[in-house]
Amino acid sequence: MMETCAELSESSSAPSSLPSASPLTTPELSDDGFEIERLPSPIDDGEGHRPVDDSQAEMSQHFPGASPSFILVIGGLGYIGSHTVLELLREGHNVIIVDNLSNCYESVLHNIKVLITSDCKTKGSAIPLIHFHRLDYRRRTMSLLLESYSDLVMTIDSAGKQKMTYRSRISGVIHFAAYKSVVESLKRPLQYYQNNVCGLVRLMEQLDKYNIHHFIFSSSATVYGARCNAGLPLREEDLVHHPEESIDAAGNRVLLQPSAAGLSCPYARTKYFAEAILADVAAANPAWHIVALRYFNPVGCDPSGLLGENPRGEATNLYPVLTQVLTGVRPSLGVFGSNWATRDGTAIRDFIHVLDVARGHILALAWNRDGGGGGFRAFNLGSGSGTTVLEAVRSLEATANRMIPLNWAGRRPGDVGVCVASTERARKELGWSPRETIAQCAADLWNFVQRSVRKPCSEGREQAL
Ligand code: UD1
Repeated sequence: MMETCAELSESSSAPSSLPSASPLTTPELSDDGFEIERLPSPIDDGEGHRPVDDSQAEMSQHFPGASPSFILVIGGLGYIGSHTVLELLREGHNVIIVDNLSNCYESVLHNIKVLITSDCKTKGSAIPLIHFHRLDYRRRTMSLLLESYSDLVMTIDSAGKQKMTYRSRISGVIHFAAYKSVVESLKRPLQYYQNNVCGLVRLMEQLDKYNIHHFIFSSSATVYGARCNAGLPLREEDLVHHPEESIDAAGNRVLLQPSAAGLSCPYARTKYFAEAILADVAAANPAWHIVALRYFNPVGCDPSGLLGENPRGEATNLYPVLTQVLTGVRPSLGVFGSNWATRDGTAIRDFIHVLDVARGHILALAWNRDGGGGGFRAFNLGSGSGTTVLEAVRSLEATANRMIPLNWAGRRPGDVGVCVASTERARKELGWSPRETIAQCAADLWNFVQRSVRKPCSEGREQAL
């Protein structure tokens, strides 16, 4: 299952009919492989809202007197991406979403607009800009999109020579678009390496060309591999990509060495390789500010019930499967493994509310922007406490007030028994701390399920659930 991107058409190329980008204007782009939709500005919504413009302080701090600046969110209509886009808008950022809708629906965009419009109305604030580009980020036309948000400006290099360089109106990039199924990655490793690794390398080349160097990467606890099973909360220091000084639990100075241990599947290796590449890129060029956010198990959804996890393909993660059981699409939950060394024999995971994860991205962007994030830095985003699969099921049963039928199955290939985060670094350095509980995750998910059943949308949510 993938998070956002469909297979590339290798024959795709930048069509010759595309206009060349002027350094001073944003060209209108369109071709069969490069759908670009400029959403009507919220000023057109007939409700008296005005869009954010360059008089806003947030934008003018980046480019005084210039066009508005944006955060580019690649894979912005997927599960974590859509919640992050909503949080960015709530914080007043203008957002460019690139998504090919391969694992989500366009209705997600509509729902984001509904939610932010209502929020801004309540607060009496301006509605930030949302530009949506339906596009696979690996297509060559991604470069034209980046160019369309750039201006050519004259600068002076260190030798005192004048040269033309790009200055982008994109002040930060958050990259979610990746395949994410452990099981599928075992069957189709090349597809996973192609998208999650090759796609990333090409994207970084393009961002570098347009001088966009603030980058947030969706990583995963999966990079810790076999270290998960040590039973201790996982610290970022447990996986470094270059030698790094640190203080151990006894207060001694230690030199950490890079080493990957027991990466259990191609998916895990793609995330590990991607992080290692990003660490090398940042070491080679001090202009880069790169943060890798290692997600543990994001669950729950916006309390409105309008956004949630609704993959197009087969659901394989625990909560989407539970959703399908609650809506009657599946008769029962197959519980993978009852003999793990845990309090009830089922695996332990660190479930974290997706809105907490989304807020982590906003803080990481701010940290990068304020200079904290020169180079490469990884942060765990987890709750810091473990919940067994059975406990997660029981909390949802209590909220929904109904039984979830279980079907005891063997361990799933590639699974680990225990995976819990240390949240110390994110708390200290980003000022991030999770606000929501597992009970809140269950309540929000149940709300999403009920809304989905009550009010099926035309784009297939009811089929997908
Ligand atoms: C794994 C990665 C995580 C990654 C995610 C992407 C690890 C430790 N974690 O999450 O970093 O972001 O994949 O997909 O590698 N389960 C069932 N029945 C089901 C589905 C799941 O019992 O039908 C169990 C699993 O066996 C597991 C737990 O629920 O013990 C959570 O599974 P899932 O939601 O798929 O996430 P992880 O595999 O933990």
